[in-house]
Amino acid sequence: MRLLLWRLLAVGGGIIGSASMPTTLQRVLSVVDKAQVLNHASFGVGFDLTASYGIAAVSFSNGTTVTLAKVSSDDGYDEVLQRLSLDSSRHLSPPYEHLFDSWDDMPRQLLRKARKAIGLPASHDVGLLAKMLSDLRSLVEEEIGKPVESAGVATLNLVALYPEDLQDAFEYVGLRYLTFPVRYGVLYETSAAYAGYKFGLCSDYTNRSACKNEQDDMPDDVVMAVLYTRTALTVSLSIMASAYYLWEPPYRHLLDFSLGYDARPVNVADDNYWDAVGLRLQQILIENPYYKRPAKVLLMGDCVRDKTFQRILKKALNQQMRELPEILDRGSEGVAAKGAAEFAKRIPYDPYRF
Ligand SMILES: *[C@@H]1O[C@H](CO)[C@@H](O)[C@H](O)[C@H]1NC(C)=O
Ligand SMILES: *[C@@H]1O[C@H](CO)[C@@H](O)[C@H](O)[C@H]1NC(C)=O
Repeated sequence: MRLLLWRLLAVGGGIIGSASMPTTLQRVLSVVDKAQVLNHASFGVGFDLTASYGIAAVSFSNGTTVTLAKVSSDDGYDEVLQRLSLDSSRHLSPPYEHLFDSWDDMPRQLLRKARKAIGLPASHDVGLLAKMLSDLRSLVEEEIGKPVESAGVATLNLVALYPEDLQDAFEYVGLRYLTFPVRYGVLYETSAAYAGYKFGLCSDYTNRSACKNEQDDMPDDVVMAVLYTRTALTVSLSIMASAYYLWEPPYRHLLDFSLGYDARPVNVADDNYWDAVGLRLQQILIENPYYKRPAKVLLMGDCVRDKTFQRILKKALNQQMRELPEILDRGSEGVAAKGAAEFAKRIPYDPYRF
């Protein structure tokens, strides 16, 4: 299935807009902005909009990638993420899958347009995401002394966060929204962190054919991604095969906004919180007993270095696996932003785009 998808993507890249392509592929390809391709930038900017903070990284053409700015969330930002994580927040959004969807979505679209026409963000939620983007951009511009015109963004895997929301947030702050040929239309943190930890991207991205061959030949890699910040714990068990390819369905992915670092007990003897964290870390492995165990654990977020957390994580993994997988935590705070920056830098040479 994966090979077929990539083959179609590769072919589809040359015939963007063809009516014969299946809908899922159109979903991937319709967000491609050709103008991005023509702008050969010497650096890529990536943001990560994660729980409790946003962070920005820059990847330079000489291979250096650095995180440059971190912004703690304001009131309302985390609530937006929580709301967008709920099934009940899902709604129709382009690209539409059924004939009458665009008709049914019209009232919402009209409201978006009306708000934009009077200079408001397309929705309240978009406004809060835009504020974070704007703060991050200002800090990056200060650091590198150059205007930032475009960026890529990584986000939590949120069921009700649509490409349209990110597009609107970028538009509101006057930034070009870079999209990537990834399965979900949105660059989820697992993909971005995988790239940020230097996996799944070809070595010489400027040689398009060699890069494509290298990407196509990358073997499947089962990874567990764990985000731990002041306000959230998320866990996923996913297949990666190149950083562009992520398969992370809802039943192998969970978000818990009640088990963030800030919720830990003052009294260390009170074990309820850490027991709950331990269970969450094992939950997906327990619920998917026949699924391959992870070869890597990608840690993300600014609280994963906590000693108790590390101990609980290892204990949880030991209970579910004979051997501990490789646990990556270096620069976990900005690793997804770094990955997004790396994706952004590679856009002009994207092997799947032509
Ligand atoms: C790469 O370029 C950046 C920005 O010009 C610079 O800060 C960094 O030191 C360079 N890295 C190397 C290894 O030359
Ligand atoms: C790109 O890679 C291919 C295959 O590895 C090689 O034959 C070709 O010479 C490379 N092109 C450039 C411009 O380096």
